[in-house]
Amino acid sequence: MAGIPPTLIIFFAIFTFSTLAAVDGESQSFSRTMPLESKKLKREKMSHLHFYFHDIVSGRNPTAIKVAEASSTKTSSTGFGMMVIIDDPLTEKPENTSKLVGRAQGIYASASQSEVGLLMTLNYAFLEGKYNGSTLSILGRNTVMSEVREMPVVGGSGLFRFARGYAHAKTHWFDPTTGDAVVEYNVYVIHY
Ligand SMILES: *[C@@H]1O[C@H](CO)[C@@H](O)[C@H](O)[C@H]1NC(C)=O
Ligand SMILES: *[C@@H]1O[C@H](CO)[C@@H](O)[C@H](O)[C@H]1NC(C)=O
Repeated sequence: MAGIPPTLIIFFAIFTFSTLAAVDGESQSFSRTMPLESKKLKREKMSHLHFYFHDIVSGRNPTAIKVAEASSTKTSSTGFGMMVIIDDPLTEKPENTSKLVGRAQGIYASASQSEVGLLMTLNYAFLEGKYNGSTLSILGRNTVMSEVREMPVVGGSGLFRFARGYAHAKTHWFDPTTGDAVVEYNVYVIHY
């Protein structure tokens, strides 16, 4: 750089930087950058949600139904290959007569050969108060024999737009003869 005046170097540095910034912020016909405030996205907050998840596989009105399994699933000690679709009630208290706050709708699949480990892909569809119509999406691993299982919250809609966080699941009650379970959930979610 010997011989180039320092002012020229500074000029080029500023010029190059501002050119890059202009390209980065450039609008295309199909996209534009917007300030967060234009969608009323001011400050992030954290919400703690607490509810009970009722996974009823037995009886006349099951909320979780097995839709598929492999021929080897019946002989697998972990139920590997089983797939279940759920529309499980979420309630305020553990009793099934407690107030309904939402439903967990989606799929879980037995995806581990070494322990009972479920792939959970589901939405919590909330029904209560201001949350009515808003959803949170869960995609995670649920080793049901563990004391506490953690699953990521990967997104949301409505009041939970741009959500991210995690859900902690703890079995509250399990009937080994029917397979019915009530699971306590503590969900921590950051959203606007
Ligand atoms: C609620 O739980 C009780 C006791 O376990 C059971 O007898 C009853 O059938 C359940 N009701 C519903 C609607 O699942
Ligand atoms: C939730 O919203 C639906 C659709 O707008 C409405 O029918 C229902 O009554 C609402 N539920 C509650 C508990 O506010």
